[in-house]
Amino acid sequence: MKFFVDTADVAAIKELNDLGMVDGVTTNPSLILKSGRDILEVTREICDMVSGPVSAEVVATEAKDMITEGLKLAKIASNIAIKVPLTWDGLTACKAFASEGHMVNVTLCFSAAQAILAAKAGASFISPFIGRLDDINLDGMQLIEDIRTIYDNYDFKTEVLAASIRSVNHVTDCARVGADVITAPPAVIKSMANHVLTDKGLDQFLKDWAKTGQKIV
Ligand code: E4P
Repeated sequence: MKFFVDTADVAAIKELNDLGMVDGVTTNPSLILKSGRDILEVTREICDMVSGPVSAEVVATEAKDMITEGLKLAKIASNIAIKVPLTWDGLTACKAFASEGHMVNVTLCFSAAQAILAAKAGASFISPFIGRLDDINLDGMQLIEDIRTIYDNYDFKTEVLAASIRSVNHVTDCARVGADVITAPPAVIKSMANHVLTDKGLDQFLKDWAKTGQKIV
């Protein structure tokens, strides 16, 4: 399973990347806003640091304008995945980008039907949003499972990039149902290391060690 980090925060990406935990990065307009940085500048910085795919999202809503924006974003670096929304125009732009050999991440996917269209349009990645489906009492993980089954049934090459991940359980459930990639905020990835029994066990070991009066160095 590949780990993408869902942020435009360069320091947070660097920390995880230095540990070898970053296979790629996803950004979106909200994350660019949160970073307070210029999209071209921050995306270039991320691409210089991370060798895997870095998703940069278009903001136009018509295919021809999406294509203009996407080609500009793709010039930033060879590892850019152009991110387009799952609309008819987005699929049109996806097909155009894919035909020219660009990686494309089709985002804002909320149904298996949408995921089929993205695969047909040549998407490199489909981004189903788990958390936002859970937010409206639908089953985000079921969507990941459905897309996995459908893509396997027809040997679609599009990778399932589980997005809108809010918890550690989302990550492990994605691994269980066979998502190719997860993209998660840095805090979620870091919290995967936490367990209450680890803390409790370590606390006990340190107390007992202090009682021995010994030192290792
Ligand atoms: C990733 O590509 C998405 O933009 C992101 O995961 C959305 O997450 P959110 O629903 O927590 O904003």
